Amino acid sequence: MKRPPADPFETVDVERLRAGHGVKWGSLRSDTIGAWVADMDFGVPPAVREGLLRVTEREDFGYPYWPGEDPVVEAFEERMAARHGWRPEPGLARVFTDLLQILQVMVEYATEPGDGVAIHVPAYPPFLASIARAGRRIVPLPMTRGETGWGFAAAGLTGRLREQGCRMLVVVNPQNPTGRVFTPAELASLAEAAEELDLVVLADEIHADLVYAPHRHVPFASLGTVAARTVTATSATKAFNIAGLRCAVAHVGHGRMRDALDRAPLDLFGTPSVLSRVATVAAWRRSDAWLAALTRTLERNRDLVEKWAADLPWEARYHSPQGTYLGWLDFTGSPAGAAAPAEHLERLARVKLSDGAEFARHTAVDTAAFARLNFATSTSNLLEILDRVTTALA
Ligand SMILES: Cc1ncc(COP(=O)(O)O)c(C=O)c1O
Repeated sequence: MKRPPADPFETVDVERLRAGHGVKWGSLRSDTIGAWVADMDFGVPPAVREGLLRVTEREDFGYPYWPGEDPVVEAFEERMAARHGWRPEPGLARVFTDLLQILQVMVEYATEPGDGVAIHVPAYPPFLASIARAGRRIVPLPMTRGETGWGFAAAGLTGRLREQGCRMLVVVNPQNPTGRVFTPAELASLAEAAEELDLVVLADEIHADLVYAPHRHVPFASLGTVAARTVTATSATKAFNIAGLRCAVAHVGHGRMRDALDRAPLDLFGTPSVLSRVATVAAWRRSDAWLAALTRTLERNRDLVEKWAADLPWEARYHSPQGTYLGWLDFTGSPAGAAAPAEHLERLARVKLSDGAEFARHTAVDTAAFARLNFATSTSNLLEILDRVTTALA
């Protein structure tokens, strides 16, 4: 009898991961489990693998050429409409290598040194570093914990951003690291402030395909007139596990930004490779069954982490993410102490989490007692991670 194919999410080949070029495992001691950087321990969808192999077999590594519209742009436009109910305006999307580059380009073209750039904090650390390095002021919109989970103060938002001289707003939704999927009302409060203050908005929606029911991703540019001041940035890299390939899309709804980009020298930004484009198109067009199975595994893991956190001997006040495969853990009351729990756990538990302090660097927000857990791994590996952490802190 033919056996059904093995569940690609049930086992993780740690030897394959350690032998590869990925920083998540490659940079660690051989006794340490990687649960930090936002790559998944799984493989890629079959269509992505086949597409990459076909290019390789053809030895098709010359400079890219497409006879018509860039297929990545077409796949992006189709996907946004089909999956997220947002119809991007044709002709406004362009490809970049990555989202960090899109942020950097926007900071450069939409703001001046000394201007304020608002962003929810804790935030993806390279964004904070990049804004600070460009000499702009980070204006934190602190994520705070209420009874029902993480949120931010929408009341008085416009006044606060005006006082702090904001020119640009970064809306990362789903939010990294809290995993919040913002509601239409929350997004509307941000849109209102942006309109009132004439802000340029970067809507980073890189985790949009990783949202758990009943939560639903609402593209910022689908909210109405705010689309004309929004650059939506996304890629297939998080949901389909191809971050190392480097391909992203920016839908530039903002006219002045578009003009600035059109005037910029063509060769300033570089171009994504053929491999990354082929993989992105295969992911967005032919990998939804894989994504559905992945989401079921991630959801199970998410629930496991929630149960584990509820049983911890200190009050972790943990809120499960509504999207992403990232858990934002508070070690304040734990024996790991209120500072650098990730470092402590790497030493004592041989588990590498992401250091919480990094997610608020260059701001006055204090996240030193936090660490971020990446639970995109097999259930057995996750159980080992959680067990090691509990044992180290017993
Ligand atoms: C919210 C967010 N934005 C951007 C990125 C990075 O994207 P890229 O590798 O395309 O720069 C990440 C990576 O984890 C992320 O979580």
